[in-house]
Amino acid sequence: MKLKKSYKWLIATTTLIVLALVGTYFYRHRFDKYELTQEEQQQTILEAQTEGKTLVAYFTWPTRDDVDGTTSASRLTRDGKLYGNTEYVAGIISQKFGADLHHIETERTYPSTVGAVLDDTKEEHNRGDYPKLKSHVEDMSQYDIVFIGYPLWWYDMPMALYTFFDEYDLSGKTVVLFTTHGGNRFCRTLRTVQQLEPKAVVMQGPAIFDREMDKTEEQVSKWLEMNKFVK
Ligand SMILES: Cc1cc2nc3c(=O)[nH]c(=O)nc-3n(C[C@H](O)[C@H](O)[C@H](O)COP(=O)(O)O)c2cc1C
Repeated sequence: MKLKKSYKWLIATTTLIVLALVGTYFYRHRFDKYELTQEEQQQTILEAQTEGKTLVAYFTWPTRDDVDGTTSASRLTRDGKLYGNTEYVAGIISQKFGADLHHIETERTYPSTVGAVLDDTKEEHNRGDYPKLKSHVEDMSQYDIVFIGYPLWWYDMPMALYTFFDEYDLSGKTVVLFTTHGGNRFCRTLRTVQQLEPKAVVMQGPAIFDREMDKTEEQVSKWLEMNKFVK
């Protein structure tokens, strides 16, 4: 009788653990359906213009408080300089391609602590504000390939990216999107950019998890190899 009871407990606990694991898996992957399928990615690779001058444009907002990665804070320091996660990935991609780098900066500043920046950007996102850009690409027409990187903010691109896509017509260019994120990869942003730049070839680049920044180099190389993106 005692044995039966412990069996029941074992079955109930195992069932709960399995349900929790399956639930977590589906929750984390709920946005995967918005990513490019293998066929779509192959097609964009075929269409992609991989010759010509390359630009790597990125937005980043590293937070400065002492909170660890589980709250999505990004605190990458090299030689005493604080790097944003996306800035770090952009640097590696630009090195690999000998590409020009462009930091997308806004006129307005965001708060520097995690809690405050979360509140502030949520309001900006909900209002649909397009923040004014402080930095501008001098001559976008000289580039054939434009890598564009951003941290995922509120399951979307930061609003500064909407301003960026509003400012530049990327028709005819190969646009490779890359993100850094706390688990949600691209969400719907690939589809959004396809709509904002309908005459560009939009490719899915690397999505680097913010707790695995140390694997950036490896992941970027893997992506380049997988997509046979050779210049
Ligand atoms: C305001 C804010 C909102 C965020 N929203 C998301 C999100 O919706 N999904 C996600 O996976 N990560 C989210 N994150 C985590 C960041 O995307 C991630 O830490 C990123 O690497 C930060 O890049 P950065 O240092 O270049 O700014 C958010 C972080 C912040 C600060």
